[in-house]
Amino acid sequence: MMDSVRERAFAKLNFTLDVVGKRPDGYHDMETVMQAVGLWDEVDITLKGEPGIEVDISWDDLPKDLHNLAGKAAREYLNYVNMTDIGVEVYITKAIPDRAGLAGGSSDAAAVIRGLDRLLGRGLSEEELLKICAGVGSDVPFCLRGGTQLAAGRGEILTRLAPCPECGIAIVKPGFSVSTPELFAALDGLKIGKRPDTARFISALGRGDIAAASPLAFNVFEQALPGAERRTVEAVKGALLDAGALGAAMTGTGSAVFGIFRDAGQARRADLAGYGDVFFADPLKFGE
Ligand code: C5P
Repeated sequence: MMDSVRERAFAKLNFTLDVVGKRPDGYHDMETVMQAVGLWDEVDITLKGEPGIEVDISWDDLPKDLHNLAGKAAREYLNYVNMTDIGVEVYITKAIPDRAGLAGGSSDAAAVIRGLDRLLGRGLSEEELLKICAGVGSDVPFCLRGGTQLAAGRGEILTRLAPCPECGIAIVKPGFSVSTPELFAALDGLKIGKRPDTARFISALGRGDIAAASPLAFNVFEQALPGAERRTVEAVKGALLDAGALGAAMTGTGSAVFGIFRDAGQARRADLAGYGDVFFADPLKFGE
């Protein structure tokens, strides 16, 4: 029997992101077009002799909650299949910056669930796997599926969309980070001025018209950022657009900002080094 698998955990972007209501359970209802991109962590999952779950990560200055999310994913999967006597070691080789809005931690968690299902030969249905993912975190179901999806509810109600046409994406992670619960709270205190036109974005993407879709990329969280951080995000967006991006927006609760370019070559020619860590990626058709 196989005792080890390696999974790729892809980053996601929110092409559009709207928060449409606050729920009695404290979460918010979302409406967001999510896209998996070719920037990934590698997740190695190994069965070990003794029961217990161990998580280790290649960057040692990462906050503990990343370990916790991958560990929680393993625990929830093993609980679901009634195999809590199994021992599992997870090793994550990071490439996706953390605290960026790129779902690095959520994607690692989804990779643990996908990998364990392969390793243990259980072959759960996608529906079951998605249910386990939803119990781990709001972005984890999307990370299991990948591709291009409209996400609603907490983020777990997914509708597959036409794949994103070929384009180049540049991602800039500025030096600051944002707390997700604090940004949700800040947004609650605001009257949201501008929202994305999600339907128009989806329709342009469905026609394969990246030039019409890209300028509609928009994230309501940008208006909830404190002044200095908002100005930084504006500056990064300005630099992306000056370099020829067809559209630019922050992803998730930030702080990473992406620009959509006609092709990878144009994205790579953009001089963005002064604004933070820079990554280039292409949109993925499947979670792969
Ligand atoms: O689901 P997850 O644990 O990733 O969410 C982290 C935090 O983000 C939640 O505790 C909540 O404050 C906020 N959140 C929310 N509504 C969502 C998703 C997340 O309020 N749909």
